[in-house]
Amino acid sequence: MKNFHFDNNQLMAEDVPLSQIAEQFGTPCFVYSRAALEQHYRDYEEALTGCQHLICYAVKANSNLAVLSVLAKMGSGFDIVSGGELARVIAAGGDPAKVIFSGVGKSHEEMAAALDAGIQCFNVESALELEQLNTIALEKNLRAPVSLRVNPDVDAGTHPYISTGLKENKFGVSMEDARVLYRQANTLEGIEIIGMDCHIGSQLTTIAPFLAALDRTLLLLDELACEGIHITHLDIGGGLGVQYKDETPPSPQELIGAVREVLAERSLTLVLEPGRSICANAGVLLTRVNNIKTNGEHRFAIVDAAMNDIIRPALYQAWMDVVPVLPNDNIPAQTYDLVGPICESGDFIARQRELSISTGDLLAVKSAGAYCFAMSSNYNTRNRAAEVLVDGSQLHLARRRETYQDQLALETPLG
Ligand code: LLP
Repeated sequence: MKNFHFDNNQLMAEDVPLSQIAEQFGTPCFVYSRAALEQHYRDYEEALTGCQHLICYAVKANSNLAVLSVLAKMGSGFDIVSGGELARVIAAGGDPAKVIFSGVGKSHEEMAAALDAGIQCFNVESALELEQLNTIALEKNLRAPVSLRVNPDVDAGTHPYISTGLKENKFGVSMEDARVLYRQANTLEGIEIIGMDCHIGSQLTTIAPFLAALDRTLLLLDELACEGIHITHLDIGGGLGVQYKDETPPSPQELIGAVREVLAERSLTLVLEPGRSICANAGVLLTRVNNIKTNGEHRFAIVDAAMNDIIRPALYQAWMDVVPVLPNDNIPAQTYDLVGPICESGDFIARQRELSISTGDLLAVKSAGAYCFAMSSNYNTRNRAAEVLVDGSQLHLARRRETYQDQLALETPLG
């Protein structure tokens, strides 16, 4: 996270002290670095030089309009999983012609809206979805561009909740079914087969599962070519992991280098759907220590962020690094559980951390740019945090902190 660095013993976001951002916008507050987002996107672009490709940033990882607009300006495409995400991409200035639509449960309205917007490709995940999409396209006198999402039954070696390429997962169609479905798709007037898609999971830290999935998809691709079904667009999904603690995931260069070696003789457009590897390490969550208490042997630092802001530790037992923004070595280090104000024992951000902190201190939860705000909620009627994008020495309020009025506005008491 080189765009978040210590300068004069205080943690900065690019050229701005994080303590200044906390003063100005309050806490909890997510802070994103434009330079980091751009660098992570460029890492992919550079690895793909000389190869026909489309990078479709997975909007679900962080869907703030400011983040999307940074990537749209870089020329990025977008991987969406809902009509809401399509609306966000369009509002952020993204090009619908570079949008691919993934997901197992696309509604009639969502498919219709995506067809109207002229998206690049639907990643179809079932026979019924294919049939429905065909009907909607015919009603509109259009042909829907389609990839089938195949499920290669490969173990991604990641947390079971974020593994998607095993046959017990709900995603994609088995290799056997895909063969049949491609033949069927080939007969449908409203469907134009353009590609094949495969996404096996998230936070992958080795290349081997990607290559195993690639082998299986290429086998099917070749079989289909023999039947006259020609596929020109190969989507290998997202899933590249990042470093939260001591993981050593491959770089985009290493992953794409290995994939390109396998694809060398083929003229395919390579599509990628990276989410986490673009934005996780482009963001932090600022939170203040509101109270310190002990229960027997256990020492708790109660912070003003909670599981509604950052659910990854509670949901996936994820380890997120936490550091003081203004380190003070004069405070003796103690072991803390960092917990939020929510009424659940599962409301923790980090456990058993050695920290030199006292009440009122400002902390940064690192690697919080992906799947944090995007998964936040109003549980316990907590206002969702502010989001700020830093660009050099400039600050852009990407989302203002919610108010209670915002939350109550959508509801009506019984009169
Ligand atoms: N494409 C598809 C079809 C996906 O389902 C996903 C993520 C991605 C791309 C992007 O994967 P990435 O490059 O970000 O790994 N909330 C979880 C992660 C859920 C991932 C869901 N799918 C977490 O916080 O770890």
